[in-house]
Amino acid sequence: MNEHTRYLQQAAWTRDLRTYLFDKAGLAGARRVLEVGCGTGAILGEIHTPAALHGLDLEPEPLAQCQIHAVSVSLTQGDAHFLPYPNRSFDIVYCHFLLLWVENPLQVACEMARVGRTVIAFAEPDYSQRVDEPPELRPLGKWQTEALQRKGANPFFGARLAETFRQAGIRLEETGPIQTSGRKRTAEEWENEWAVMESDLAGFVRGEDIQNMKRLDEEARRRGGRVLHVPTFFAWGKT
Ligand SMILES: C[S@@+](CC[C@H](N)C(=O)[O-])C[C@H]1O[C@@H](n2cnc3c(N)ncnc32)[C@H](O)[C@@H]1O
Repeated sequence: MNEHTRYLQQAAWTRDLRTYLFDKAGLAGARRVLEVGCGTGAILGEIHTPAALHGLDLEPEPLAQCQIHAVSVSLTQGDAHFLPYPNRSFDIVYCHFLLLWVENPLQVACEMARVGRTVIAFAEPDYSQRVDEPPELRPLGKWQTEALQRKGANPFFGARLAETFRQAGIRLEETGPIQTSGRKRTAEEWENEWAVMESDLAGFVRGEDIQNMKRLDEEARRRGGRVLHVPTFFAWGKT
C-alpha cells in the first residue's frame, strides 16, 4: 500500500472532527492556513476554502505527491522545528499525525503558536492505552508499538498533547479523545492495515506468529468479537 492510501485512510478517521473544528476555528473567514507536516496532501486536498493554503514537510517525496493531490497549495520543504514564516502570519496552523514523529514536539508546538493565531492538532495517538480483544490479540499492540518506536515515533505522545499545548503558550479551547466508537473498519481497510503491519513486523517477529495473529484477527472479526481501539487525541487553542 502506498503512503497516500494510508494517509487517506487515516484522514477518514478524523473527517467529522476536522469539519467541526475548522468551523469553530473560523476557516470560512480565514485568509491564510498552514498544515505542518502535510505529507502527501491527504488533508490539504480535502479543504474547501477561499483562504490561501500552505503546506510544509521535511521530505521532498511526500511534497511531490502533495503537489498532485492538492494542486493550488503553496508548498515548502522545511523543518517544523524552525518554521520559515513570520510571526502571526497564518490565521490557522494545524497538524495531523505529526507531533508523535518529531524530535521535540514542544518546540514544534511553540513554532506553530508563533506563526499562527489558532493552532490545531487533530490526531495524536497514545498506544499505552490501546485495547485489543479478544485477549489472544494483545501481543499485536505491543509489536505495533515497538514497530513505531523503531521508525522513530513516540507512540505515547497523545497523552501529552494538551500539556504540550499549554507549555507552548496556546490557550486551550478544547481537547480530548477523538470519538471513533461504532466505526467499523471495512474489509479493504483491514487488508491495508495488515499489509502495513506485515511489512513493519517482518524481521522482528516470526512469520508464523504474524500469520497466526492475522488468522485470529480475521476469525474474531467474522464473529463480531474484535475490538481494536487506539485512543487518539486532539487539541486546539488560540495564541
Ligand atoms: C504520518 S505523516 C502525516 C501526513 C499528513 N499530515 C497526513 O495526515 O496525511 C507525518 C508527516 O510529517 C512529516 N514530518 C516528520 N517530521 C517532520 C519535521 N520535523 N518537519 C516537517 N515535517 C515532518 C513526515 O515527512 C510526514 O510526511
